[in-house]
This record gives sequence, C-alpha cells and structure tokens, in this order.
Amino acid sequence: MKKKIIIAIDGHSSTGKSTLAKQIAKTLNYIYIDTGAMYRAVTYYALKNNLISANHFDKDKLIKDLDKIKIDFKFNPDKGFAEVYLNGKNIETDIRKMIVSNFVSDIAAVPEVREKLVAQQREIGQQKGVVMDGRDIGSVVFPDAELKIFMTAKPEVRAERRYKELKEKGQNVSKQDVLNNVIKRDKIDSERSTSPLIQTTDAIRIDNSHLSREEQFEMVLNLAKQKIQDHSEK
Ligand code: DC
Repeated sequence: MKKKIIIAIDGHSSTGKSTLAKQIAKTLNYIYIDTGAMYRAVTYYALKNNLISANHFDKDKLIKDLDKIKIDFKFNPDKGFAEVYLNGKNIETDIRKMIVSNFVSDIAAVPEVREKLVAQQREIGQQKGVVMDGRDIGSVVFPDAELKIFMTAKPEVRAERRYKELKEKGQNVSKQDVLNNVIKRDKIDSERSTSPLIQTTDAIRIDNSHLSREEQFEMVLNLAKQKIQDHSEK
C-alpha cells in the first residue's frame, strides 16, 4: 500500500504553478488546493465591501470581518478541479480579474488574514494526498512536506504567458500593465515581513523559462513518485 504525501509547490506569480499542481494531483488522484485563490477570495470580499481601493485600505474592518468570510472548494467535474466559493457563491472567474490581482498582495501581507488561511490549509492537508500551491506552503504551512518544488521564470516570460491567458479570457489589458503587476507582486511577496516568498533549502528549484509544460510535468511527476516510494518504505 502506497502512503500518501504532501506536495508543496511554491514560487513566483505566473510560473504555471497551478497548471502543474492540477496535472500532478489528477495523475496521482490527490486533492489540489490553490491557496492563491484563497487570498484572492479575501481580496474579492474586500473590494466588494469597499474596504480597499487605490487610495485606502481599511485593514481593521477587514480583520473584524474575517469571521464572516467563509472560503470553500467544490470539485467541478466538467473542469476537473475544485473551484473556490466565497460564502456559498462561486467566484472562480471573478478572482482571476486584474482588479483582484492588483490588490491581492496587499491583502496577503496582513498577518491576521494569513493566520486564518494557513489554519484552513493545514486542516485540509491533515489527510495527506494533497498538492498545494502558493508562496509559503513549503516554508510555513507544511514545513515537513515530503516534496517541495520552487518554481520561477524570467518576469518577461511570465508576463507574456499571463497576458495571453487574460486575452484568451477576453480581458482588455496591456502587456506593460501585466509586466508591471508581475514585478510589483514579486517585490511585495518577497519583501513582506510575514511569511515572505522564499526558497527553502530542501526545495527543488525549477526555472521553467525554457521548459515546456510536458517536460516540467514529467520531471515533477517522477520526483513525486520517488518520494511516494521512499515514504512508503519508511
Ligand atoms: O498564486 P496567485 O498569483 O493566484 O496568488 C495571488 C497572490 O496571493 C500572490 O500575489 C501572493 C498571495 N499568496 C500568498 O501570499 N501566499 C500563498 N500561499 C498564496 C498566494
């Protein structure tokens, strides 16, 4: 009987973490959790309730409201992954918009927000058999994860991929705005005082600037199979 493991996939924004994590979870029959979607859901709530805008952020009210924010994942068989719900409403599409991307790093820098979401993430991971992607999964959420991957790529390559993705979804954005957002998010995510994005010493770094999705998938799947084997023999 093969034992289940935890696979933590961290890294810079728009490095294809979620695409990879979904593929790996599907192949191994594991649960996939997109923790970025949870931070985006809180951001969506803050925007909807006028708690954040370009020139104001009512952090205290957001912290007071945290008990009112219920985030769930429900598996959508048509899409083949779990979509995110905020207080019972499917917000999977809304949270991918640029307006949410523009404010999510500020929301994710609030320690009380992180505390709430990390607790929920740990609870989901208790049963193992989970692929979780984010920024602090290997460093904070599951420091003992059996497999840790750290993904990166050049900012220009990431912005180009993100731009194409947004265009395909019919969103009207400029390449420069997307690149600026990628650079800004890297900076806030890496420099914030609570749980900054770091590569832990036991994480395997993958720079996918010049790797195809298939090559990357094969590489990580083999690593995962090896870790499952090692863990099962323990
Ligand atoms: O993975 P993403 O781009 O959808 O994540 C959105 C933002 O949420 C990202 O800019 C940083 C933040 N985030 C975080 O701080 N910690 C996580 N575990 C996941 C995301």
